[in-house]
Amino acid sequence: MATLQISDAVVLATPRLLLRDFHEDDAGKIAEYFGEREAQRHILRRQRKPRQMSFYVECAARYARDVPLSSRHYLDLAIALRDTRELVGMCSLTDVQPGSPCARIGWHLSTRFSGFGYATEAGRELVKFAFEERRVARVYADCYESNAANLRVFVKLGMRPLPWLSLLKWLFALRYLEPKPIVRYSIENQFLRSSVLAA
Ligand SMILES: CC(C)(COP(=O)(O)OP(=O)(O)OC[C@H]1O[C@@H](n2cnc3c(N)ncnc32)[C@H](O)[C@@H]1OP(=O)(O)O)[C@@H](O)C(=O)NCCC(=O)NCCS
Repeated sequence: MATLQISDAVVLATPRLLLRDFHEDDAGKIAEYFGEREAQRHILRRQRKPRQMSFYVECAARYARDVPLSSRHYLDLAIALRDTRELVGMCSLTDVQPGSPCARIGWHLSTRFSGFGYATEAGRELVKFAFEERRVARVYADCYESNAANLRVFVKLGMRPLPWLSLLKWLFALRYLEPKPIVRYSIENQFLRSSVLAA
């Protein structure tokens, strides 16, 4: 697992990306990325308020500063280009305490940085972290059924749609208080499964 320590920010590294802790001064850029016109139909209604997203990043930065990585139950990370350190988006991993039965991943990239495989690259590292470092049993992700590019990312990560999704997608919409169907894809930790079977 490529884990680096750069200044006080814990970083997961991929070939092209750094997944690092937020700094409070990332808030404006992230709010700008969530505010992009092209993104609006793909993000939750509560994410369409720029002040909400700035506040979210500020809280994540404070949490990262106050809580060491080993004690964190969720990660909110900035995605930056490894070469230039430019901020391209963010990603998250929720309920990732050791041995968790189920963790959730998510991400959001600026349209300027979409189409380069970055979401898949970041998502793969988060799944690996959940499975290998925290021994999480299953990782899932949700998005609007209409978000075809994101669904393709799920599939590239080896995730599969939940059974009964044609019904569940409306329940998820209700739970998120959204008017459009929301689908859930997930992947099981095969390493844990085979070690349980072998025991
Ligand atoms: C959607 C998003 C995550 C994709 O990120 P990305 O870095 O471009 O994703 P990747 O390049 O890793 O993979 C995208 C895949 O979707 C495909 N794709 C792109 N647009 C598509 C479309 N309209 N229909 C079907 N597939 C599409 C790409 O061809 C690629 O697949 P491939 O590698 O097999 O060619 C990113 O654009 C984003 O965050 N957008 C902001 C809005 C959003 O959707 N946020 C997430 C909400 S849950």
